[in-house]
Order: sequence, then structure tokens, then C-alpha cells
Amino acid sequence: MSYYLTDEQLMIQDMVREFSRKVVAPTAMKRDETKEFPAENFEKMAELGLMGMMVPSEYGGAGTDTVSYVLALSEIAYSCASTAVVMSVHNSIVCESICRYGTEDQKKRYLPALVSGKSIGAFALTEPQAGSDPVSQKTSAVKDGDYYVLNGTKRFITTGKNAGLTIATANTEPAKKHKGISAFLLAKGTPGFIIGKTEDKMGLRASDTTDLIFDNCRVHKKDLLGNEGDGFKIAMTALDGGRIGIGAQSVGVAQAALDAAVKYSTEREQFGQTISKFQGLRWMIAEMATELEAARQLTLSAAATKDRGEKYTLEASMAKLYASEMVNRTVAKALQIHGGYGYIKEYPVERFYRDARVLTIYEGTTEIQKVVISNHIFNDKRR
Ligand code: CAA
Repeated sequence: MSYYLTDEQLMIQDMVREFSRKVVAPTAMKRDETKEFPAENFEKMAELGLMGMMVPSEYGGAGTDTVSYVLALSEIAYSCASTAVVMSVHNSIVCESICRYGTEDQKKRYLPALVSGKSIGAFALTEPQAGSDPVSQKTSAVKDGDYYVLNGTKRFITTGKNAGLTIATANTEPAKKHKGISAFLLAKGTPGFIIGKTEDKMGLRASDTTDLIFDNCRVHKKDLLGNEGDGFKIAMTALDGGRIGIGAQSVGVAQAALDAAVKYSTEREQFGQTISKFQGLRWMIAEMATELEAARQLTLSAAATKDRGEKYTLEASMAKLYASEMVNRTVAKALQIHGGYGYIKEYPVERFYRDARVLTIYEGTTEIQKVVISNHIFNDKRR
């Protein structure tokens, strides 16, 4: 169902589909087992322009629209959700925030390495006691001449260990609550910027998730992103784009689970016929396919709203909410269709089931999306 996609968008989708299934898919199951970070995927993805998709060409980016990015990210998630989450945070949060809020000097210093895949981006907002409520974060940034001195701990940071550049938020004026939070650009290896424990996760096992510790970490004022006090706005704006990315990841994993279920059900025979002949199963497949298409359209529509330069917070939250819940229903049904074989690691549906679980949690839980959506419905002057 591609009736409103342009030839260029369809070409990007085809190109990434071919790459993803040939290059990314064959090693995904192994990576899930070994937890090896897919560094080589990102080098190849950068050559195809996938590590700076929406970055303008003057900084070496591919300069595509968000719709193309959603199509590409879904194709990567189809093969490997671990690779996709890294691509998503890197593109929609880190590259986009630098493009939107960075100074010319910051863009020139950081974007070329990011788009070439030499440096991968991470985003550090969450803290041990500040998840859904990031305004309550405790990390401090105290001005000392031309520097800010950061102290505190960030938690659950995607690519924390492997990132070359991290956007981190910290309090410059705690009394001002969200208006006292600022955002900083931190290069790997900055003294006092320490990589903490790596989590042992249920899914997305080839994407590292770590603590990041700031121990009197000195950041030069030229690496303040935006102005002092802009950090919360930068984070919320970044998450709007990030949530479209989670919609795209959900669509990709759900498509992989649906395809696996269809394939299995046309091969597996019980009671003298393939199980695909049973109406109960066919109805499950019909529901999965319809819900998947609805999620795809919501995600593409949120991306198109962003591309038109309109406000898209509501659309991004709706896409994230629906797509992430949809993929969890889809992987559960796909596993059920596989019967006992779905429960063992030989079949990829077991990995899809685990990978999908976090999609209703990170970049704003299902419950937070409902807060954002209901606030818009009650307060939005457009209605
Ligand atoms: N865009 C721009 N500004 C926004 C905004 C948005 N989408 N949402 C809120 N703001 C602004 C508001 O306008 C307001 O500014 P003013 O005071 O100047 O008017 C300010 O932010 C505060 O807004 P709220 O009063 O609505 O803030 P709140 O404290 O009630 O929180 C929330 C709102 C939606 C619950 C927000 O805290 C939230 O999204 N929480 C979830 C956090 C989250 O998603 N964390 C994910 C971690 S990152 C991650 O998972 C990445 C990864 O590694 C995969």
C-alpha cells in the first residue's frame, strides 16, 4: 500500500530492504546470542546514507525527509531490532537535535563524524530516580569560568558504551525546574565522563544499554547545546521525533513477525492440512495484518506532518502508542501460531517477542503517551 509515496521514497525503501535482508538479517540471531555490538552494520549503513538521513547535504548527510527515514528504519528493524534502535536514537534524537539547536561550529565539529558512522550518537536524559518524570533529574552542571562541571548518573542509555557523542541533560539552575535544565554535547573520553554498568536485557541484546556517570566532568561552554535552560525543550522536541522512530521500529518488527507466522503456517501440517487452512488462524493473520497497516499509516502520517513543518507532538505520540502496543499483540500471536516451536530459539519469532517488549516502555511509556495525547485533546486550540 504505497499509493502516496514518491518514487524517491519507494526507491529508498527498496534499497534499504535489499541491504537489510542481505547484510543485516543473516547475523541478527547470532548477535542476539553474543550481544556483539553491530559496528560493521553502521559502517555499511553510513555508506548508504542511513546514519545521517535527515542531515542536510552540506554536512555530509543524505538530506531525506522523515517519511523516507521511517521507511528505512522499518526495513532495518525487520532484520535486526538492536541495529534499528541504535540507528533511531542516532538519527532522530542526536543528529536532529544538533541540526535544530546546534551552532554552526557544533554542526561542523560533530555532524561529519556522525553521518559517516565513525561516531554514533547517544541521548542521556533518564536517571535512576527520573524516568517518566525527567524534570526531577538530579545531575548538576555548575558554571566554572568557560566550563560547566557535571556530576550525576544517567541510566538506561542506549549505545552508552559505544557512542562517540552523547547529548546529556543536567541542571544548571535547579530552582527553575524544567527551565533550569540544559543540554550538553559530550565526546567520548572527556575526563570525568565514565561508562558505568551495562545492563543484561531481555531483548535488543546487541544494543548496549549502560549507566553514564559524570564525576566532576568538565564541559566547555562551546558544547552547551542551545541556551542555558533549553535542555528540557530540546529533550522533548527530540523525543517527538524519536517517538516516530519507535513507531517505525514497531512496524518493522511486526512485519517480520507476521511474515514468519504466514510462512510457518503454510508449511506446518496438522490434521491432514497446513494450519493456514484453519479459519481460526486465518482470522488471526487478518487481524495482525490490519493492525500493522494501521500502525504503518499512523507512523507515516506523523512523519509527513513533521515534513510539512507542522506541529507533530500529538501525531508522534499516537503513532508510538498504537504501533508499540500493536507489535506486542502481533509478536504474541505470531508466537502462538508457531506453537511449541515459537518458544525455542531456533525460530526468530522468539527473538521478535523479546525485542518488541521494550517498545511500549522506552522513549515514553504507553502511559506517558496517553498523558501527552489527552493533554492535547483537552488543551489543543486547533480542536
Ligand atoms: N515539545 C516542546 N516543548 C515541550 C514538549 C514538546 N513535545 N512537551 C512539553 N514541552 C514543554 C512545555 O511547553 C513546557 O514549557 P513551558 O513551561 O515553557 O510552557 C515544558 O516543556 C513543561 O511541560 P509539561 O508541564 O507538560 O512537563 P511535565 O513535567 O508535565 O512532563 C511529560 C511532560 C510528557 C510527562 C514528559 O516529562 C515526558 O515526555 N516524559 C517521558 C520521558 C521520556 O520519554 N523518557 C524517555 C527517555 S529517552 C529514551 O528512552 C531514549 C532511548 O535511549 C531509547
